[in-house]
Amino acid sequence: MLVCCRSTGAVVDANRAAEGLHGRSRDALLGLRAATLHEGLRVVRGDGSEVHVELTVTENIAPDRDLIVERDLTERARREAMSERYQLLSKFTRDIVLFVGKDGVVLEANEAAARAYGYSRDELLTHNVRDLRGPGTVGFVEAQMQEAFEHGILFETIHVRRNGTPFPVEVGSRSAVIDGEVVLLSIIRDITERKQMDATLLQADRLAAVGTLAAGVAHEINNPLACVIANIELVARKLARLESEGDAARAQVDELSRLIDVAREGADRVRLIVRDLKTYARGDEDTRKPIDVRAVLDGALSMAQSHIRGHAHVVRAYGEVPLVYANDARLGQVFLNLIVNAAQAVTNDTQQRHEIRITTRTDMAGRAVIEVTDTGPGIPDDLLERVFDPFVTTKPVGEGTGLGLFVSHAIVASHGGEISAESRTSAGEQTGATLRVILPPWLVAAAPSSPTL
Ligand SMILES: Nc1ncnc2c1ncn2[C@@H]1O[C@H](COP(=O)(O)OP(=O)(O)OP(=O)(O)O)[C@@H](O)[C@H]1O
Ligand SMILES: [Mg+2]
Repeated sequence: MLVCCRSTGAVVDANRAAEGLHGRSRDALLGLRAATLHEGLRVVRGDGSEVHVELTVTENIAPDRDLIVERDLTERARREAMSERYQLLSKFTRDIVLFVGKDGVVLEANEAAARAYGYSRDELLTHNVRDLRGPGTVGFVEAQMQEAFEHGILFETIHVRRNGTPFPVEVGSRSAVIDGEVVLLSIIRDITERKQMDATLLQADRLAAVGTLAAGVAHEINNPLACVIANIELVARKLARLESEGDAARAQVDELSRLIDVAREGADRVRLIVRDLKTYARGDEDTRKPIDVRAVLDGALSMAQSHIRGHAHVVRAYGEVPLVYANDARLGQVFLNLIVNAAQAVTNDTQQRHEIRITTRTDMAGRAVIEVTDTGPGIPDDLLERVFDPFVTTKPVGEGTGLGLFVSHAIVASHGGEISAESRTSAGEQTGATLRVILPPWLVAAAPSSPTL
């Protein structure tokens, strides 16, 4: 605040604030002409730098005295520019931008937020971030907010629109100080497309797996086939010799039948591989209807009886399970393989009384869950990652082709379901393996595809 002489324009008084603003002592200010101190709405300070000010002049506050009040605009101007920049940024970014208070209340939201959630900006400001979270994710909010305030955080979760539709998001959140208050600045990206892309890539992976399968088949078929051909060759030669040697040929006949057995074993292996492959490729007779998986499980159990008998006790823990829309023959093949695998896993161990437990239930999302659990040796971690790959087997030649789970996976996936393997050998204890199949319930499967989040 300066007081100037109205007639000469010279400064006759200056307060502390004026000293600070002008960067000059009171003594240095006195006598200077006010006009030389200002250039438009800027103050030229003692060191030559400039400060934006707002000037209010009150004339004749005393005889021949004017009062000039100068208000420093720098901080305000900076803030205004900042806020304008922020508004531009948040207006044009496709990402959702939210400022969130300590309690989770939304303090500020941009246009993208209003568009994404389906609320107006004003409505959003009456919401808590917890209201924007998808079911099952609210429980994490506390810990995530704390982490965001302390270190900043980047995570994926599910948000929900006003109409109840969930959508996957990636949230980047960290603390910022605004008007002296610590708040969270969250940048939220809708990652629906990215997730769909991931799913497409997964599908592509599966197609690539089919290629691997074809290559593997050629390789796999070669060995048994070579064995068949070589043995049949031998038989042919020996037969030719037998013919010329007449009746002293009893031992030779025995050897011949042994060779024929080996040949038959090789041929059988080829037959199994071809059978499994045909199932994989079969797309035509895929007629589906609503079915109760428990009936299909019973069918598979009776087919697997010869493998189970004498090795394990079967427990059928059938809980309530929704109907699924499926091809019962193909589903039966999946269950049969799981049950035979379980039986084969316990076969080698006669020390213990083993159990194969078949469970059905309904999960939180209303899907059908089928589990086949055994008390066998379990699946080692390194194998666990590969059991659904083609030709992965630990079984002796003639017993397994390693296609069972690969084919099961393809069948379950074609029904919109999931299959997974779990084993608890890592703790050092052998508590067996659980193979789990999850299938969508009939009504959802029949409806046009809905997001599975
Ligand atoms: N319940 C289980 N316990 C232990 N290991 C298992 C179990 N189920 C599967 N495995 C392992 O996974 C491998 C692959 O199983 P998969 O059913 O694909 O092939 P396979 O049973 O060996 O042969 P196939 O089913 O083609 O006759 C098995 O060889 C075995 O090592
Ligand atoms: Mg198998």
